[in-house]
Amino acid sequence: MNTYRIASIPGDGIGVDVQAEARKVLDRAARRFEFGLEWTEFDWSCERYLETGRMMPEDGIEQLAGFDQILLGAVGFPGVPDHVSLWGLLIPVRRAFSQYVNLRPVRLLPGTTSVLRDRTADELEMVIVRENSEGEYSELGGRQNRGLPGEFALQESVFTRVGVERIVRYAFELAQTRTGRVVSATKSNGIIHTMPFWDEIFAEVAEEFPTVHSEQCHIDALAARMVQQPERIDVVVGSNLFGDILSDLAAAVTGGLGMAPSGNINPAREHPSMFEAVHGSAPDIAGQGIANPVAQILAGTMMLEHLGEAEAARAVYTAVEQVLATGEVATPDLGGKATTAELGSAIADAVQA
Ligand code: NAD
Ligand code: IPM
Ligand code: MN
Repeated sequence: MNTYRIASIPGDGIGVDVQAEARKVLDRAARRFEFGLEWTEFDWSCERYLETGRMMPEDGIEQLAGFDQILLGAVGFPGVPDHVSLWGLLIPVRRAFSQYVNLRPVRLLPGTTSVLRDRTADELEMVIVRENSEGEYSELGGRQNRGLPGEFALQESVFTRVGVERIVRYAFELAQTRTGRVVSATKSNGIIHTMPFWDEIFAEVAEEFPTVHSEQCHIDALAARMVQQPERIDVVVGSNLFGDILSDLAAAVTGGLGMAPSGNINPAREHPSMFEAVHGSAPDIAGQGIANPVAQILAGTMMLEHLGEAEAARAVYTAVEQVLATGEVATPDLGGKATTAELGSAIADAVQA
């Protein structure tokens, strides 16, 4: 029997609630498909920061390095500035483990309250391939002249040839296994100086994939297309910031943030990858037990796929679809009254009927 060692970081807010449900469901899948999930829990969070002055211990990255994969709830909570929680945990993990692909598959699920719920599942089937290690998310810059009339903030974007090439190539390879279409999110109309560089590399890589249909689209127009003509979109490749924004939009058009999973992937598999929901810690509904756990459970299916447990991943996905289709157990974001735990348990039961 294969046993996988998983680092579990529930984090803050609803991260803690949805993580518990994902573990419940994944454990049932493990039992049914006869593999082991050995969880090690880390209390790394804003609460820990307030007690110790650190989101994670100094050797946090070394502690995580030995695990097969990481499942993260979410970090960030009022009372601790976001730059502390994010640069103290999330971003260092993505970078230290070279998780340069942020994969965000988007599908229309039954039972959604989305404005596009009457579209067919085929029309709303996309994946966002977000650059996850550089771009606009750079540490270069800061605030100057605080409190003076000339106060300003400045941040430099960093796009490296290696960084752009590898994410674009990943997107083309993925498109080959899907519909053979890839669109690059850009803003090259002379405004953002890094984007013509991105476009040039996109065009170069496109030449290596003559069977893939490629096009580039300005990020603003692409956002509109995602709502009005989602059937024209399959694989989207975008920079760190563009991919971030498009992934919340894509989540919204398919069913909301409660339904959208995400994988921070280290394609070479030399380090653990990290799976999480697209959403954050949702302080506005934290502690109420009403967060939708589906996004985190689907992040769990991405982890199972990455571990090579494709059959188990499919079974969990099917269980999610079955439960959502009945509409009997739905959290408030889906128009129901169920709690996080009730929806998680219904999905777990459906995995092992
Ligand atoms: P958010 O995703 O936490 O919440 C946005 C809105 O969506 C809120 O109204 C929330 O209630 C709702 N929502 C999100 N997930 C939901 C779910 N599962 N079920 C039902 N409703 C859900 O984004 P935000 O408010 O911009 O950020 C809150 C905090 O989370 C910030 O500190 C931010 O930095 C952090 N954050 C962390 C991560 C991460 O750890 N990966 C990701 C995004 C945001
Ligand atoms: C996400 C989040 C993070 C990001 C934030 C919290 C830094 O929004 O995972 O999408 O922008 O990467
Ligand atoms: Mn985001």
